[in-house]
Amino acid sequence: MGELKEIVNPLLKWYDGHARVLPWRENPAPYRVWVSEIMLQQTRVEAVKPYFERFMRELPAIRDLAEASEDRLLKLWEGLGYYNRVRNMQKAAEKLMEKFGGEMPPDFDEILKLPGIGSYTAGAIASIAFGIARPAVDGNVLRVLSRVQKSYEDIMKQSVRRKMEEQVQAVIPKDRAGDFNQSLIELGAIVCVPGGAPKCGECPLKGLCRAHKDGVELELPRKTPPKKRKIEDRTVLVLISENKAALKKRPSKGLLAGLYELPNLEGFYDSGAVLEYVKNLGLSPIRIQPLPEAKHIFSHIEWHMAGYMVKIEEPEQEPEGCFFVEKEQMEERFSIPAAFAAYTEYFKHRF
Ligand code: ADE
Repeated sequence: MGELKEIVNPLLKWYDGHARVLPWRENPAPYRVWVSEIMLQQTRVEAVKPYFERFMRELPAIRDLAEASEDRLLKLWEGLGYYNRVRNMQKAAEKLMEKFGGEMPPDFDEILKLPGIGSYTAGAIASIAFGIARPAVDGNVLRVLSRVQKSYEDIMKQSVRRKMEEQVQAVIPKDRAGDFNQSLIELGAIVCVPGGAPKCGECPLKGLCRAHKDGVELELPRKTPPKKRKIEDRTVLVLISENKAALKKRPSKGLLAGLYELPNLEGFYDSGAVLEYVKNLGLSPIRIQPLPEAKHIFSHIEWHMAGYMVKIEEPEQEPEGCFFVEKEQMEERFSIPAAFAAYTEYFKHRF
């Protein structure tokens, strides 16, 4: 397929009959499209929906996002992961306040300059919210286009992505730019799916698809395998004093920056070493109980965790970096990343 013109009409027709009803589609205001697209990076549609609705309720305008406190923002994002996404959104919101009166400008190049917005997201906002004829090529679209064209080029390569953007740019209909981009995304999300058999029987492009014609859909798209994740061993402590438990704030840079965490140590410690550590913090342990091991996978790192619950006497002084919070207040007030979920569970236990 030299160009993709033939896919346009069948895709739009299919989209009209099959597109899922989604909150950001029913009302594609620029801010809503922006927030939804950022949340949808790395997170499934069903998981995003409740986060999206809450975010819009609590921060209904770009001004609210620009002015929100860091803790409130992180709380609204808690569980979605990749927290830099929301920090960048706030930086972009501040810029939009300064330069554009708190509105997203209807201009692809200006949108692309905003922090946290790359060519996919800029294209999605420009086309879906403003009808600007720019491509929005994400992983879904790369998969669909690789299969339709039976392309074995490596979609992890920037040059291949750019080429596919140019191909979409050449055929994107001016009067339905947003729908066309979304039809490609939607087809990739619900028909031309990754990991397992695509539903070629339901596909509006099955008569045009070269991979399907040759029976090679499962070989495509081609991707260089991601680098192996680095494994880090950690020992996580649930330090309990009466109805309170210990928290720490993470540094403002790096992994899980600025979030709250349970005290934890690099490497695996046994009970004796944990008690030693707790005493060195100036605390008086009463009892220790090992907790089950847990694992958490980030994009580039994997934490393998051992855990201990340690009951301590009420501290006269909080150890440096640590503070004690009533267990019931934890959830409401502090964003503790999902990596610790296996252990924050024990706040609910009597000990
Ligand atoms: N994934 C990324 N963007 C999307 C959108 N606009 N609709 C559905 N799924 C998506």
